[in-house]
Amino acid sequence: MDRDLHQQSGKTRLTGRSSALRALTLSLCLTTLATPVLSQAILEGERFHPASASNGMVATSHTLATEVALDVLKNGGNAVDAAVTAGFALAVTQPRSGNIGGGGFMLISKGDGSEPEAIDYREKAPSGATETMYQDASGEVVKDRSRFTHLAAGVPGTVAGLALALERHGTLPLKEALAPAIKLAKDGFVVPQRFSEGLEQARERLQRWPATQATFYKEDGSAWQAGERFRQPELAATLQRIADEGVKGFYEGETARLIVEEMERHGGLITSKDLENYQPVIRTPVHGNYRGYDIYSMSPPSSGGTHIVQILNILEGFPITKLGHNSADTIHYMAEAMKLAYADRSEYLGDTDYVDVPLMGLTSKSYATELRQGIKPDKARPASDVRPGQPASYESPETTHFSVVDKWGNAVSNTYTINFSYGSGITVEGAGFLLNNEMDDFSAKPGVPNAYGLIGGAANKVEPGKRMLSSMSPTIVRKDDRNFLVTGSPGGSRIITTTLQVIMNVIDHGMNIQTAVNAPRIHHQWLPDEIRIEQGISTDTVNLLESRGHKVVTNSAMGAIQSIMIGEDGTLYGGADPRRSTSSAMGY
Ligand code: GLY
Repeated sequence: MDRDLHQQSGKTRLTGRSSALRALTLSLCLTTLATPVLSQAILEGERFHPASASNGMVATSHTLATEVALDVLKNGGNAVDAAVTAGFALAVTQPRSGNIGGGGFMLISKGDGSEPEAIDYREKAPSGATETMYQDASGEVVKDRSRFTHLAAGVPGTVAGLALALERHGTLPLKEALAPAIKLAKDGFVVPQRFSEGLEQARERLQRWPATQATFYKEDGSAWQAGERFRQPELAATLQRIADEGVKGFYEGETARLIVEEMERHGGLITSKDLENYQPVIRTPVHGNYRGYDIYSMSPPSSGGTHIVQILNILEGFPITKLGHNSADTIHYMAEAMKLAYADRSEYLGDTDYVDVPLMGLTSKSYATELRQGIKPDKARPASDVRPGQPASYESPETTHFSVVDKWGNAVSNTYTINFSYGSGITVEGAGFLLNNEMDDFSAKPGVPNAYGLIGGAANKVEPGKRMLSSMSPTIVRKDDRNFLVTGSPGGSRIITTTLQVIMNVIDHGMNIQTAVNAPRIHHQWLPDEIRIEQGISTDTVNLLESRGHKVVTNSAMGAIQSIMIGEDGTLYGGADPRRSTSSAMGY
């Protein structure tokens, strides 16, 4: 089925090798933004200032990835060229979430106003996977099995997904998009503090695996320190094989052999056939409308777009601007709407190649109106009273995010992951990259929460070849058919609510993109029945929420959203999330 979808989809790749020709081809094919004029209006009087530029903007969670992607734009490449280059670079500079051993989703919205497209390169369950593979003989879930063993790994999709994006919409040969990553892996890079701290924190989990220890720690077992140069020769060789042989250089040949041997040594399930058969899929993004803005976000097998649109639809009926940013009233309505959406998620969402998902119903205005009527202004509804709703009938028909906009107004929003920080913690011996533990995003047993506390049902049970449900929400907001906001975040179950709040901060509260990104966040996911808040929500507000019956807990930072906003005059504003010290937004 995947293959069919892939083949049915028409190629819209833009070709042309020289930058001059490339620029000419693109400018003929794509609508040019209005002549960019740097506008200061949005910056004046603001506490936080976004990066601003006229010709291109990149926001990623690692400065080195931002830099190499920006170079691609400066040399005449388009947003997809830059995004794919960033994706491979992050696999080197940020191994805790950047990856070639995982999967993700890319949303592409051209500057010509044509319908946005989504590339689904989510991992798939190996062909040998079974519904009860994470349960013991008595039917109890064995949590570590789906998180920290070779059975935790889904068939990786990143290499195929990034290559497909380039083939359909890029102008760079794959080899050129890989070149900066190969250089960073071979020559090494100076590690930032965050890199060193991450390895220290995950030491116990990672050093269980000799190949992980040898790849990411020094010979004496200590972590690389800030300021030291870290090289990854095996990863460089793995990336070089992709550069030399294309996608086959990962899914067949030497790298595939190393993955399969790794599986066979440790009781994993991924076979050479699973790798050979992996195909990314072109999907139609979920589309909603919020206060006159068009919201495009990721469709299943991610739940992200569906529930962002559902929550926005519910909130559209409340005067959020008047109630104020992070006031008790606003947070109350947001939490009540989030509860309803996450309850529906637990029941209805799964891989649409395997199960029917009532997408139109869940994202319809009429269903939102019905749900809104159950929300009381002065009282929290206990989670135990909230059940999945009845949307209209079925129709057949630690993650990282980066956003790129080029001078033609083309926008890319990409979120990819290996699930936890460092995924399963297992490095493919000889290949130098970490394997995902994405199988934990399946429902190991109906009603038993996954690592993010998310409950799933039959729609998300393990099946061979199926994609596990995700919350990743690469999102592009348009106004009058013009790209306006490009955004998305890591954060597990909190991805949906993080992305939602940046959209609301911009649309409802008129914030510039940096202020919208920095603002304190809240989260509710139905179960556990609590509002999580970041530092920065006042005690008065918390007291008011508690008086309505909410349980409020302070959480550590939520998400790391990397966003770009396009001003009416075409100026690009980049908002990198300070919650990750290596985040950066740069333009030219
Ligand atoms: N692994 C987190 C997600 O895909 O939602």
